Amino acid sequence: MRLLFVGDVVGNIGIKTVETYLKQLKSELSPQLTIVNGENANGGKGIKEEDFKRILNSGADLVTSGNHIWDKREVLDFIDDTTNMLRPLNYPGDVPGHGFKTINVNGQKVTVLNLQGTAMMQPIDNPFYAFDDLYKEHSDEWIFVDFHAETTSEKIAFGQYVDGRAKAVVGTHTHVQTNDAQTFPKGTAFITDVGMTGSLDGILGVQSQRVIQRFLTQRPSKFDVEEAGRVQINYVVVDINDNKSTIKADYIRS
Ligand SMILES: [Fe+2]
Ligand SMILES: [Fe+2]
Repeated sequence: MRLLFVGDVVGNIGIKTVETYLKQLKSELSPQLTIVNGENANGGKGIKEEDFKRILNSGADLVTSGNHIWDKREVLDFIDDTTNMLRPLNYPGDVPGHGFKTINVNGQKVTVLNLQGTAMMQPIDNPFYAFDDLYKEHSDEWIFVDFHAETTSEKIAFGQYVDGRAKAVVGTHTHVQTNDAQTFPKGTAFITDVGMTGSLDGILGVQSQRVIQRFLTQRPSKFDVEEAGRVQINYVVVDINDNKSTIKADYIRS
């Protein structure tokens, strides 16, 4: 089974880039399942229903997210009503929305799971144990994880921890595609970060001047999405098989 995963969509320019390139990528790569991380779709922070619908209409089957999922309170207007928008499973307490979805792809059950790391991030529930709990009920299914985390070590540690249990783990959140796509010894495909979708000229999708100013002055400055200039769409193609999955990272820049 082939899966296409597109990294963090940042701002309107990011959604437009998905609208421009996703159908082309799907016809070239013929994935059976297409997943897009949309946590930064609305102004760089959060996602509203219209953003979600535009990403689905571009060809995504599922939208995953991360730490910015709650930033636009309008997310609460739709997150309980759809199973195609995932938030990290490991938020504590009674949380709106869904952290995973099990889908039937050509007779094979595939569980797509969104988790969030805790190193240099909010101290939500432990994502490693959250995986263990989910695995108890879903070990017969092919599990794909969007692991949304800040540090390279936590992402690699998680990937190795679930090697042989998840079919693939892809990292998101840091917005820069890493050159370490690989298959771990027990067959789990892994990459530390898929990279982002949106501006190529900004800094992680944000207007450069604001970010540089923050480093020059050590004072907070408002971050706005870079909506002009060149664009990029970073993605991975994962081929999932019974005992070994493979992964290839790629991008389009224009
Ligand atoms: Fe994030
Ligand atoms: Fe992000």
